Amino acid sequence: SDVLLLNGPNLGILGRREPEIYGTDTLDDIERAVGEEVAAQGWGVIAEQHDCEGALIRTIQNSYGTVGAIVNPGALMIAGWSLRDALADYPRPFVEVHLSNVWARESFRHDSVIAPLASGVIVGLGALGYRLAARALTSTVR
Ligand code: DQA
Repeated sequence: SDVLLLNGPNLGILGRREPEIYGTDTLDDIERAVGEEVAAQGWGVIAEQHDCEGALIRTIQNSYGTVGAIVNPGALMIAGWSLRDALADYPRPFVEVHLSNVWARESFRHDSVIAPLASGVIVGLGALGYRLAARALTSTVR
């Protein structure tokens, strides 16, 4: 069984992207951390990052066999309606993660069109949030 780890626009450059906001962990670090967390359950990780909404949607459509997902939609949280619709048809639970505390930032980041569909949302805890999301899936999904 595999968990889908899906990261949206501008998350491929983590590590050097506004490190004072997003921290210094790279996406590789995060993908490895999630792999560690789910390995205890005997699960693997399918990790994908795309800057294009369509590529994210295609990945979701091809991942109905995964046990659950961890999704950081980046700024698509704000108005990514097509991504939202793709997740609405995804048959498994998913956890939404944001590295930064979006409510401590600009008001345009205060709403997520994705969050109403998520099992839970983790914000503001940096890269640790992905580990916590992985733990949430391993302890709730069967
Ligand atoms: C983010 C928060 C979003 O508002 C922003 O557009 C991102 C990253 C986060 O992980 O904190 O790209 O999703």
